[in-house]
Amino acid sequence: MSEHIDLQGGARLVGEVEVVGAKNSVLKLMAAALLAEGTTTITNCPQILDVPLMGDVLRSVGCEVEIDGDTARITTPAELSHRADSAAMGKLRASVCVLGPLVGRLKQAVVALPGGDAIGQRPLDMHQNGLRKLGATSTIKHGCVVAEADGLHGAQIWLDFPSVGATENILMAAVLAEGTTVIDNAAREPEISDICTMLVEMGAKIEGAGTSTLTVHGVEALHPTEHRVIGDRIVGATWAFAAAMTRGDLTVKGVNPHHLDLVLDKLRLAGADITTFDGDGFRVVQAERPQAVDWVTLPYPGFATDLQPFAVALSSVSEGTSMITENVYEARFRFIEEMVRLGADARTDGHHAVVRGIEQLSSAPVWAADIRAGAGLVLAGLCADGVTEIWDVFHIDRGYPHFVENLNRLGADIKRVIGDPERS
Ligand code: UD1
Repeated sequence: MSEHIDLQGGARLVGEVEVVGAKNSVLKLMAAALLAEGTTTITNCPQILDVPLMGDVLRSVGCEVEIDGDTARITTPAELSHRADSAAMGKLRASVCVLGPLVGRLKQAVVALPGGDAIGQRPLDMHQNGLRKLGATSTIKHGCVVAEADGLHGAQIWLDFPSVGATENILMAAVLAEGTTVIDNAAREPEISDICTMLVEMGAKIEGAGTSTLTVHGVEALHPTEHRVIGDRIVGATWAFAAAMTRGDLTVKGVNPHHLDLVLDKLRLAGADITTFDGDGFRVVQAERPQAVDWVTLPYPGFATDLQPFAVALSSVSEGTSMITENVYEARFRFIEEMVRLGADARTDGHHAVVRGIEQLSSAPVWAADIRAGAGLVLAGLCADGVTEIWDVFHIDRGYPHFVENLNRLGADIKRVIGDPERS
């Protein structure tokens, strides 16, 4: 039996919500634990499906993993397996982040191609080219990345695009390479800075975290540490959009508002009254119908592609016409087909979408295609008349801890229901 969400539209969300650690950080930090023998402790972990899945990936190469509430303890043995090809690998994208640490420590790795959200092509060429520059061979064989090196040496690496995953893998291999590595056009996402912080706590020598040039001076060995994951800016922004769309009043804690500077500024343009709190959280109050604004996705500090579904959902009920440009993952616009089921006046042309705002959406059964699309449909359902059914809830569970409970607490009439869909 599958599970869906029943959501009665029309609520105004009011109250306070706490955001926990970032999914796109914790999974990489767990992979980084492979770099040091001993027990690494990671706190503020979100209680989402991907954390135990990443635990399974680490167990498959020989680690002991204990997840207790918001704390993950990873004990990495002296002898690790270089083969990460368990079934768990195919269930999430971040599993590929064991590649860099395994090559760094063992000078060889066989890593199954990762799974994750179907949001467009997700090649690994930049990951592989980076490892090659460090002195490893890298090929794809029988569904796995196979990498081998006699020894790793520092190198100058230019990325074609500031890829988050490639930056992370190259960084985690380079920390144990001999000599200095410079990664240029590196990703600047706060989650990359978080990994750099943890690696430095483990004894790595890294300069330039948070900039597009990362300089890594290789060291012989790292040691375990205890590290607290940064708050999830994507979940924080989801609540900001929810407040704007429901003409609500939400205080969001547990996330650094500077990680959302651009987003909050755009929401101000849409009419929201936003107060930020020093280093922790913000409040969004939306009194009137939002005004249409344009959105363009770009690597950080640009507007995150993960937030694009929320921009579409907000635009669909705003006053005026919005243009949304997707520059990172072309297939993300598939979300718009589901929005059209809800009555949105939206269409795409290549990597642009035009959305003409209407007063109210109209409830319908809809299907979540990925984590953010699922949450985007929930926000849209809040602005629809009647009861919206959202199917394939497991996608939402991969990114949003206690989402339905939080929404109920903030005033939404929403519940999870077990049962089969009438149509598929
Ligand atoms: C991460 C996030 C994902 C987010 C994305 C962009 C995780 C688990 N996922 O994904 O939520 O949407 O960053 O912010 O952290 N590319 C190549 N070759 C490569 C690598 C990437 O062409 O070797 C392209 C991709 O197709 C994409 C772009 O680069 O168009 C960005 O991808 P990347 O930043 O690597 O995303 P992920 O790390 O997979």
